[in-house]
Amino acid sequence: MHFIGRCCACIPALIALCISGCAIDAVEPAPPSRSVSSSSGSNTATNFRGVVASVNPIASDIGVQIMRDGGNAIDAAVAMAMTLGVVDGYNSGIGGGCFMLIRLKDGSFVALDGRETAPAAATREMFIPNGKADGNLSQTGALASGVPGSVKVYEYALKRFGRKSFSDAIEPAARIAEGGFECSASFGKRIRGQIETIRKFPGTADILLKPDGSPFLQGDVIVQKDLAKTYRGIAREGSGYFYNGAFAKSVAAWMKTNGGLITEADFANYQIKSRAPVVSTYRGYTVVGMPPPSSGGVHVAQILNILEHFDVNALHEQSDAARIHVMSEAMKLAFADRAWWLGDPDFAPVPLGLVDKTYAKHLAARISFDRALTEVQHGEPPSADSDLFGKHTTHIATADAEGNWVALTATVNTTFGSKVIVPGTGVILNNQMDDFAIQPGVPNHFGLIGNDANAVAPGKRPLSSMSPTIILKDGAPIMTLGAAGGPKIITQVLLVTSNVIDLKDDLETAMRRPRFHHQWRPDAMWIEKTFSSSVMEALKSRGHSLDPADPSGATNAIIRNQDGSLTAAHEPRLSGKAAGY
Ligand code: DON
Repeated sequence: MHFIGRCCACIPALIALCISGCAIDAVEPAPPSRSVSSSSGSNTATNFRGVVASVNPIASDIGVQIMRDGGNAIDAAVAMAMTLGVVDGYNSGIGGGCFMLIRLKDGSFVALDGRETAPAAATREMFIPNGKADGNLSQTGALASGVPGSVKVYEYALKRFGRKSFSDAIEPAARIAEGGFECSASFGKRIRGQIETIRKFPGTADILLKPDGSPFLQGDVIVQKDLAKTYRGIAREGSGYFYNGAFAKSVAAWMKTNGGLITEADFANYQIKSRAPVVSTYRGYTVVGMPPPSSGGVHVAQILNILEHFDVNALHEQSDAARIHVMSEAMKLAFADRAWWLGDPDFAPVPLGLVDKTYAKHLAARISFDRALTEVQHGEPPSADSDLFGKHTTHIATADAEGNWVALTATVNTTFGSKVIVPGTGVILNNQMDDFAIQPGVPNHFGLIGNDANAVAPGKRPLSSMSPTIILKDGAPIMTLGAAGGPKIITQVLLVTSNVIDLKDDLETAMRRPRFHHQWRPDAMWIEKTFSSSVMEALKSRGHSLDPADPSGATNAIIRNQDGSLTAAHEPRLSGKAAGY
């Protein structure tokens, strides 16, 4: 079946639910584009007709080249995602999953869910050997992976909404995998950081280490012939190569001999879903986000709904601490709800009331200007047992001259995912099983806890924080954004949105502005050290415990300028590239 849910985001409803959770059956490296990368001192590319932003210049150049060659924003996003799987494989790749939010030029929206699923043999207790939860099992090795979803999303998106064929979008990346690319400082650092674990998996060590077992260093050329072969198999045979053919067979055979659960049937049964996006409003803007199993769309909307009860700009003018205090209290309340209510909506009842404006009003009333809340538990949204979402990390931003806008967040979860590359495939397999609550109350890699709603079950999708978002004004798209960073994805998207709408920042300023984050548990505010000591002291005096940290985040975004031209910006704290044509 090739039916897909599409929503018109002009609907002035709080939440527009159209079609929920439909399962879907599923060049040469580009010359540098006229653009700006971090090396030139700015992170933006401005006044273009079509623009892209990502964490990697090679990927951004390929995205622009595809658009120059007649492709649209969807083609560019997929070609970039395939390229990032080669040159930035520690973050994302075809062994992982993704959420792709698309605003089509006719004004309709598509939210594609390519989140991994737990294999059919998964059990609720699989990460609790001898009664004690073991995060090593959910983070590394054979049990850590869910069935990957990205390949089906990319193929489907191109077939339905792109101009290029899947093989056109794959070829530039396949060539880079085959011919090699220069190891960046960050790629080298990630290999060094994981070297002991990489050495435990010979198939992975063969690819990520040199023949003498030492790590690739910045400037070395990394060649990935097996990955090129897998890419070309997909280019030739379509996603069937991955889900029903040679790739599925190799992975299933490896899983069988290495204690994993994923079978050929798991691959064959994998389905992407088309979901109704979360559509909410914030001070006259329409905010379109990804619904569960992403928690991003729900909690970005929920926190913005709470903030509507405060004059964020006035708070900011009063002091940074006043603004941070209120915003982090709103984050705390939302993350308490996340831990209780959120999970795969096809398995757990996720209340629509979480994004209800009256519920937000009730939560906002709990926030005091003077004192941090100490007794926060999850709330009771309206109609929590009947009005439900569906019964049912890397971020790429692209937009083209025709009005197609894409927010695509893709991930293998933590650095190099499960650390497993099944020999012969070149594909890094995800460790997304760690995004389940492996036992109630036991924190995952990101310190997130969860409950029954996010317990492991066969075929279930682990909860995600990935928050691809598109914002409209008067029905027209004005911004697309998203991020990497686990739970900090939600708050990065929230902060950049608020900085643009409330503080009237331009995009670059909004992204450079120091960040903070509160996820309820642990009960501490993560805050960039670049805030002054007086801000820190003012927050402490309101009762916050602080966790000062180095600047971090990985947001990529595009904004429409007054004259209709586009500006893209890549994360200013990292290398990357914003480019246009
Ligand atoms: O889906 C999620 O929420 C996580 N697997 C995202 C992981 C992530 O952002 C890693 N990047 N720092």
